[in-house]
Amino acid sequence: MASLTIRKLDEALKQQLRLRAAANGRSVEDEVRTILRASATVEPTQGIASRSLDADPARDRETRPKRVLLIIGGGIAAYKSLDLIRRLRERGYDTRVVMTKAAQQFVTPLSVGAVAGEHAHLDLFDPATEFDVGHIRLARDCDLIVVAPATADLMAKLAQGHADDLATAVLLATDRPILLAPAMNPLMWANAATRRNVAQLRADGIALIGPNAGEMAEAREAGIGRMAEPLEIVAAVTTRLTPRAQPLTGTHVIVTSGPTHEPIDPVRYIANRSSGKQGHAIAAAAAQAGAKVTLISGPVTIPDPPHMTIIRVESAREMRDAVERALPADVAIFAAAVADWRVASAGVQKIKKGIAGAPQLALVENPDILATVAQRINGRPQLVIGFAAETENVVANAQAKLARKHCDWIVANDVSAESGVMGGDSNTVHVVTNDAVDSWPPASKDEVARRLIARIADALAAQEE
Ligand code: CTP
Repeated sequence: MASLTIRKLDEALKQQLRLRAAANGRSVEDEVRTILRASATVEPTQGIASRSLDADPARDRETRPKRVLLIIGGGIAAYKSLDLIRRLRERGYDTRVVMTKAAQQFVTPLSVGAVAGEHAHLDLFDPATEFDVGHIRLARDCDLIVVAPATADLMAKLAQGHADDLATAVLLATDRPILLAPAMNPLMWANAATRRNVAQLRADGIALIGPNAGEMAEAREAGIGRMAEPLEIVAAVTTRLTPRAQPLTGTHVIVTSGPTHEPIDPVRYIANRSSGKQGHAIAAAAAQAGAKVTLISGPVTIPDPPHMTIIRVESAREMRDAVERALPADVAIFAAAVADWRVASAGVQKIKKGIAGAPQLALVENPDILATVAQRINGRPQLVIGFAAETENVVANAQAKLARKHCDWIVANDVSAESGVMGGDSNTVHVVTNDAVDSWPPASKDEVARRLIARIADALAAQEE
């Protein structure tokens, strides 16, 4: 089989190819492939000029094998990337590879090229690479970008929007989904800077697989930081690249989240320890499942989840008004920790220390937003779901709350200080309905959110049958 080096073509032909590739939204390399493919299927009497050269890139993407762009970062786990490439290709994914400079210290471009079946892309300023493919094309001519291993440094650059090498330029220029497989020392993973970057990346809609817990390459070190195994990464790739109907398409979901702040005077307020993490994760999972989401959030410091309408409120009464305005909805999930009471008459001016001693704050009860919506005669959402934050008798209290508030399900969780749920990243919940209590194992708040949304989708589908 003859081989063709585009670089060696004459300048006029290269220029023509470049223009044609740009017009068709393809790399020059792909344009040549398309021309060759077309000519191979054309009747000998026909010319090749008009066949499929005006193909639409979106249609091309639908018909060609799914393409994964793998970015290999510079960590010891890079040695697993060779296996990952092999597994991806075994499953029919067209796999292109970009290697960072540091990655080349761990595996050679030669071995990567040999396993990938085409040379690895290494340098932002390599004229050959830029001519053949170009970083913009690399960023767009794929269905998914996988970064494995995603080092702490690469993740920090991605979170900050750096673009000082080929890998980061591609990540910044892409409009394709990104899946990161982090791998680093457990202390690096636990470091506050990495936690911030991970939260930012998640908020930007970037998915993560792993890291797993286990032994590190460094002697006598263990913890969370091992890169997910190649087969796990391939499974995550397949999940993302297999077209699925989005189960909540066409539904409107309202989610309340976070605490409320009830003013005492212009500078002081009553609040609680809710971080909003669980409510925000539920809103994100609903949006990912195709729902139109309205997130009504009390004051929180976590990032906004993508692809939804976010309404920020302070007090319980503002939250109630925002919920009323956001209706009608198919589903309403009340994950906010609404303050039960507010100060009867909040001071218009800052309350001063006086000779009368400490002020006596008279409290009045706030409106119960969940109970109000659950008892609406007109425009009640099909599914009204409350949370029950309990510190004792979790299930029994939740059952009583379900009956008292007339909602369909209560998601009950233990929020006692020792549970670490308030402000933490994991949760252990019981889904309480009129006829059953379903206790789920401890899981991350994201996982609880995904499971809850899947259960909601099943319940709506069952109601339609
Ligand atoms: N809730 C609400 N409006 C309120 C109080 C609570 O919408 N004024 C909702 C919460 O969002 C949650 C559920 O009701 O979905 C239960 O909240 P929780 O604080 O656990 O229960 P309370 O009704 O406040 O009862 P208690 O504090 O006595 O446990």
